[in-house]
Amino acid sequence: MQSDPLLSGKELAERAVESYQENFQSSPAVLSQAPGRLEILGNHTDYNNGFILSIALDLSIVIAGGQEEGSPSRLAAWSSSFNERVEAGLEKILPAEDSWINYPLGVLREIRESGIRLPSINLAVESSLPVGAGVSSSAALELATAEAAYGMLGGRPATPLEQAQLCQRAENDFVGVPCGILDQFSSLFGLRDHVLFLDCDTLDYDRIALPGSEVAVVIADSGVQHELVDGKYAALRSHCRRATQKIGELLGREISSLRQVSLDEFLGCREQLDEEDRRRAEHVIRENSRVLAGVEALRRGDLGKLGELMLQSHSSSRDLFGNSCAELDFLIESAAELPGFIGGKLSGGGFGGATVNLVEQNAAVDFQHRLEESCRNRLKTPARTFLTTIGDGARLLGNPQES
Ligand code: GLA
Repeated sequence: MQSDPLLSGKELAERAVESYQENFQSSPAVLSQAPGRLEILGNHTDYNNGFILSIALDLSIVIAGGQEEGSPSRLAAWSSSFNERVEAGLEKILPAEDSWINYPLGVLREIRESGIRLPSINLAVESSLPVGAGVSSSAALELATAEAAYGMLGGRPATPLEQAQLCQRAENDFVGVPCGILDQFSSLFGLRDHVLFLDCDTLDYDRIALPGSEVAVVIADSGVQHELVDGKYAALRSHCRRATQKIGELLGREISSLRQVSLDEFLGCREQLDEEDRRRAEHVIRENSRVLAGVEALRRGDLGKLGELMLQSHSSSRDLFGNSCAELDFLIESAAELPGFIGGKLSGGGFGGATVNLVEQNAAVDFQHRLEESCRNRLKTPARTFLTTIGDGARLLGNPQES
């Protein structure tokens, strides 16, 4: 699986148009782009109706799309990351076995469910996102597909949030990954030089400035594959659900999520919870407070405080939530010793994948270098690092003929 993180959006767009022409012997009608994401604070808080702070990346997926008449309608998709062209029927939409085409396919099925007729669709997918590194290339593929489809077929949902939720449903119900809204929300709502704040209960959101001229983002891929489809993510969700139910019983009131439990209430009843449920719930409840403190710190421009909260979040994921691993811990411990480091933590599901590091812009190149150096020979697979900035959310690009 290949993608080139050094490709700019413009180069990706040019390649997508070329790949489209080569694969489908015609020119695309639309070009869309959607970024990967990183979680700044709020690890596993989204499906507990809590708070998250996240960013969209300047690394993204670009899709050149077009449509054809003719029946039966089908999706034909080429991906340069997988060096593969895959086709699937659109009359009866069924998941393919273990294929990346399920992400676009799931989105198209949801779009059809919303009442839009699907013709045959061609997609050429180019990416600068590392696959399997925990930057949510899957959500980027979903959002770029949705943008391309709405660009060609019309019928865009009334609000962007509905579009993010449609893509989340595709991932939950079609691909079979029980993720929350973090990835799709961040890939759609991202804004250059801004951190996103989402209240996953009310779905109110805000964007808080974090200028790229001051802060760079260094992603460090642990090389340990994390798979959300396997049972670990679902198991964590079950612990949170069980804790919610039990705390509700102990407090004698109806509680539908950990968001509705204050720290004092939790501390008052935690001894009566099963050990594992207790630790998972404690992480989520304290993590929600950390996100709110992070929002305040960002608004004050107090990056030192934000960094501290990120390190606390990582420790809590490691010690209470149990979703870190030796490689991720090593990456964070090494990063924390380097000049220019502001803060860092594991990002996303955990058990592997990537860490996110916020680094002073003028120290970033050196930081990246030194981090790779300190990992050499210390990790099973050499750590890949990516230096990037906060990018914009999913959108349609200009006329493909001009790329
Ligand atoms: C994955 C999921 C998200 C979120 C994070 C953990 O990235 O897709 O919905 O739960 O893990 O915060």
